[in-house]
Amino acid sequence: MSDTPRISNIRHIVPVELAGRSYDIVIGRGVLSEAGERIRTVCPGGRAAIVTDSHVAKHHLPQLEAMLASAGIASKALVLPPGEKTKSFAALESVCDAVIAARLERGDAVIAFGGGVIGDLTGFAAAIVRRGMRFIQIPTTLLSQVDSSVGGKTAINTHHGKNLIGAFHQPVLVLADTALLDTLPEREFRAGYAEVIKYGLLGDKDFFDWLESGAWRRVFAGGPEREEAVRISCASKAVIVARDETEQGDRALLNLGHTFGHALEAAVGYDGTRLVHGEAIAIGMRLAFDFSQEQGLCSGQDALRVRRHFETVGLPVSLAQVPGGTGTAETLLDAIRQDKKVARGALTFILVRGIGESFIAKDVDARIVREFLERQLVRDI
Ligand SMILES: NC(=O)c1ccc[n+]([C@@H]2O[C@H](COP(=O)([O-])OP(=O)(O)OC[C@H]3O[C@@H](n4cnc5c(N)ncnc54)[C@H](O)[C@@H]3O)[C@@H](O)[C@H]2O)c1
Ligand SMILES: [Zn+2]
Repeated sequence: MSDTPRISNIRHIVPVELAGRSYDIVIGRGVLSEAGERIRTVCPGGRAAIVTDSHVAKHHLPQLEAMLASAGIASKALVLPPGEKTKSFAALESVCDAVIAARLERGDAVIAFGGGVIGDLTGFAAAIVRRGMRFIQIPTTLLSQVDSSVGGKTAINTHHGKNLIGAFHQPVLVLADTALLDTLPEREFRAGYAEVIKYGLLGDKDFFDWLESGAWRRVFAGGPEREEAVRISCASKAVIVARDETEQGDRALLNLGHTFGHALEAAVGYDGTRLVHGEAIAIGMRLAFDFSQEQGLCSGQDALRVRRHFETVGLPVSLAQVPGGTGTAETLLDAIRQDKKVARGALTFILVRGIGESFIAKDVDARIVREFLERQLVRDI
């Protein structure tokens, strides 16, 4: 990453078109240095509350505070512990308190400065304090830049499961500074890359071809291809969200690999040291392709390409690669049944007719899925 400039002049703007609530995603290396001016434009008030976690604060908070100050915005930061446990009622209360204590009014900004955990939690707080505050996302992980910061889903977890309490609350601006990813641990970067590939696999074969043909190396190394990959991913998500904001239909395509993936995350008890989300969905997408192939929907060649690309970038592809194991096929099927994408006993999966050709399959027979998983478990591949 040493020959990578800290700042470049390339700025991509991806609009998210939602009647009355449209906003821009601004993508670029060093875009954080423009945060003050850009936030001032959408939040004319002179105050901001920043919510972040201690990892992000250590590397990047002073810069954001300085940029806001230089644009005449007074800010107060709340630094929370990193990790999924922060998407809790207790943390929600502290964010709401901090926003109220900072005396923010409606023209002021609530800023989520972190990965998906901080974005989901802060977005939910912004949705409910004073029945809705202006909310800005400055995502700092690859996953949050290409996925969670776009589309307005916000949530916290309860002991019953993940994301069970939340709201749709769209941001007024997303600033994705790809230079922030230079400090991200490699495992987190790679996991976020699984969501990038997802956009290719679900609807954009050219994008997959481009990544597979070598662009992925420069995405990892921080070349201009990284901005391009974030731009294409955000543009894909923006189109889907504009068509189906509250997931009545097409938005479900974004769940490619997630039904299997969520079952794997549940099987390890959401233990992020054993399996992070992106790794779970990499295995999940590979399973979705192989399952589709077995059903005669997709060619073996496409399924093999998907597996090979994940292996090349160092993402796991098989159940045997989950540390500590995944339990039986029946346990996994139970977790799949618990998933919210189950309608009256019939399983809903996102399946594929090939790379870039996903579709919603609403009537998948649980018995066939169990037999498929049993074969995957004994094959040890
Ligand atoms: N709202 C949505 O549409 C949506 C979509 C996908 C995922 N999510 C949610 O996103 C969450 C996962 O997000 P995530 O993968 O970004 O995890 P995360 O927020 O936990 O961040 C991962 C780790 O990286 C650290 N980190 C973040 N930015 C860093 C940086 N620039 N430098 C160094 N370290 C940094 C964090 O402190 C944390 O330890 C989950 O809770 C998931 O449910 C939401
Ligand atoms: Zn995901």
